[in-house]
Amino acid sequence: MTQIHLIQADGQALSLEGEDGQSVMQLATAAGLSGIVGECGGSAMCATCHVYVDEAWLDKLPQALPPELEMLECTASERRPNSRLSCQIKLAPELAGLTVHLPERQQ
Ligand code: FES
Repeated sequence: MTQIHLIQADGQALSLEGEDGQSVMQLATAAGLSGIVGECGGSAMCATCHVYVDEAWLDKLPQALPPELEMLECTASERRPNSRLSCQIKLAPELAGLTVHLPERQQ
């Protein structure tokens, strides 16, 4: 199990624990977190799972692949250099403590 931290747009922080291999989007939606929608179910086709990765964690994540980079062009909230799709971030022991910030809106 890996614990991560999600900071909602209003500043409220939430810590969640999930199985390794589970995506951040799956973890957040299973917990009923409204700040992540995950409309396409995790296939990098909707951008409603957009998050801003805390700067300290950016280089610990695998590089975004072309389909993710393409979909990041379609985020409802401003795309930033630390924007990622949370369905493409899979929990792993080395990501224990990962912190992501949720955007203002997903749609
Ligand atoms: S859930 Fe659709 S792009 Fe991530």
